Amino acid sequence: MRIRRPDDWHVHLRDGSMLAATVPDTAKTFRRAVVMPNLIPPVQDVDGVRAYRARIEAHIPEGSNFEPLMTAYLTSATSPAHLEAAKDDLFAVKLYPANATTNSASGLRRIDDGWPVFEAMEKLEIPLLVHGEVTDPDVDFFDREAVFIERHLKPIVRDFPGLKVVLEHITTSDAVDFVRAARAGVAATITPHHMELTRNDLFAGGLRPHHYCLPVAKRARHRDAVAQAACSGEAKFFLGTDSAPHTKASKEQDCGCAGIFSAPTAMAVYAEAFAAQGASDKLEAFASLNGPAFYGLPVNEEFIELEAKPWTPDTWRETAEGPVRQYRGGAEIQWSVTPA
Ligand code: NCD
Ligand code: ZN
Repeated sequence: MRIRRPDDWHVHLRDGSMLAATVPDTAKTFRRAVVMPNLIPPVQDVDGVRAYRARIEAHIPEGSNFEPLMTAYLTSATSPAHLEAAKDDLFAVKLYPANATTNSASGLRRIDDGWPVFEAMEKLEIPLLVHGEVTDPDVDFFDREAVFIERHLKPIVRDFPGLKVVLEHITTSDAVDFVRAARAGVAATITPHHMELTRNDLFAGGLRPHHYCLPVAKRARHRDAVAQAACSGEAKFFLGTDSAPHTKASKEQDCGCAGIFSAPTAMAVYAEAFAAQGASDKLEAFASLNGPAFYGLPVNEEFIELEAKPWTPDTWRETAEGPVRQYRGGAEIQWSVTPA
């Protein structure tokens, strides 16, 4: 199967010595990638965005035309003036509710505080990327996404009709239904792991820290709704791996980090998942066409080949900071990207 080179509309490349692994891993498959700003300290102003882009660019392999698309982290200090200054360097702004996920302590404590910034983003035509989970301790962990949609996402989408909003890494039928029914300019990204994992996979034979990510995997009926949305070919759903490396030591501990590292295996896993749904003909729309159309960007001119040829990825990706578990590593994946 030959498809246009895909883009990754949601990835964590991290910083420092980790970039030597993550940038080549993502650049190998993807032409462009939207780079998340959840570093410590967060990437939040024009200087931070430019400096982070330069650190990433230093690791792009010779001959690659990989392009990082930069984001800024919305904190309580973000002002319309900040965005005005940064707009030419910014692809999008990322909203994290405070403490919803890895490195999100600087996120918004009250989503309502974002209103002046959302208004400025609507005028400046800067898309809003949303980590859609409430952190209210009274809300069941598995309901965090559905409650966020009702409490926060619907009001944002209603009050800023010209704002492009992407609900990232969706995990529930509630999210699928919301995005489908929403106005134009609202979309969602879908990860490889959320097309196939259920919450049972967190407990298969024992606790599985490498299947823990946020939003956490849900019941089978939610997983099925997410997989069907990806495979539908509908323009509102597109590829975002949420590849999020954490070392073995930081995952396998008393309070393990959330995040699944999938950059080297993601495209093969997507191809396998689409084939399993009888939807291989929809993979190119999901991976390579719907995202550019949503963001008003050209599609990529290069192509990649995928074939139904099993391979076994390494279990671990060695990095300068220690080994990182690769999603689906150590066991066969039925599809390959060629040349591997
Ligand atoms: C991400 C990370 O590790 O930065 N973790 C995750 O579980 N997905 C953050 C995020 O996207 O939530
Ligand atoms: Zn993420």
